[in-house]
Amino acid sequence: MNVEKGFVDAPVDTSLDLVAEIKKLKEEKKAIILAHYYTVGEIQDLADFVGDSLALARIAENLDNDIIVMCGVHFMGETVKILCPDKKVLVPDLNAGCSLADSCPAPALKEFIESHPGHTVISYVNTSAAVKSLTDIVVTSGNAMKVVSALPDDEKIIFGPDRNLGNYINSQTGRDMLLWDGACHVHEQFSLEKILDLKKEHPGAKILVHPECPAPIRIVADKIGSTAVLLEWAQQTEADEFIVATESGILHEMRNRCPEKTFIPAPPADSTCACNDCSFMKLNTLEKLYNTLRYELPEITVDAEIIDRARRPIMRMLQMS
Ligand code: 13P
Ligand code: SF4
Repeated sequence: MNVEKGFVDAPVDTSLDLVAEIKKLKEEKKAIILAHYYTVGEIQDLADFVGDSLALARIAENLDNDIIVMCGVHFMGETVKILCPDKKVLVPDLNAGCSLADSCPAPALKEFIESHPGHTVISYVNTSAAVKSLTDIVVTSGNAMKVVSALPDDEKIIFGPDRNLGNYINSQTGRDMLLWDGACHVHEQFSLEKILDLKKEHPGAKILVHPECPAPIRIVADKIGSTAVLLEWAQQTEADEFIVATESGILHEMRNRCPEKTFIPAPPADSTCACNDCSFMKLNTLEKLYNTLRYELPEITVDAEIIDRARRPIMRMLQMS
């Protein structure tokens, strides 16, 4: 089967009930479908498990299915493969990259580490397997603060690749971690002015912000946290309106869990684009997921030596959080 384009390029019969067919294939092949909160609602609805990056890594560690389909982005598929090297790990589209992971190529990070000896290297999970293999501890937005805080105050740290998350942790812990200068194009594009305009229209609304957003957006937040933290907080707090400054896919689960509450996506600076959609996450479609299960392609592969080296910092994260 042809996967030259990064996904199975086979026609899908338009008369099929894709949701039913995907469920049938999944049962037949004893596969499990994992999805990140940023994928489209129809994929979240049929996934066996939906979560943030931390929860997805945790669940992957303990799976006994022979086939794991990761609906998310490429680094998430690699993380699953690193944790489950003997399993067949499939992704609907290998083109689902990540601007943040791309901002930190492994050779450049290696040079940076060599020019700053004596530092512990902490990498956000949004990195390639090769970057993880150069890392001492992996973190996600759900545990980064906890992991950094657990290290001795005088430990010298290189933190990458997200400068906003790194900056947030520095500001909260008083540390002076050396930051890699990377960022996510989705979380960098929110407009403070437009968020404040929205707040004027909805004075009772609470502002939810992902730590990948820059400081001016974080300053107006009522709650800063990973997607899972924002979800839980929205459920628990008494407010019934929220302005949400993270990728728009999360609104699906927020509305599922709190149908009586109102969730308003924070507007991007450029109102002519849908830039609070991660175009990489949205490459996961029902058609591609169906073909992935049907043909068991495309498969994530990671070099065995890289798996060996990248596994250690991920396991260290799982032990510390
Ligand atoms: P979470 O760590 O909140 O899942 O978000 C990370 C992210 O940007 C996924 O792309
Ligand atoms: Fe990467 Fe940003 Fe998309 Fe997350 S939202 S996958 S960090 S580009």
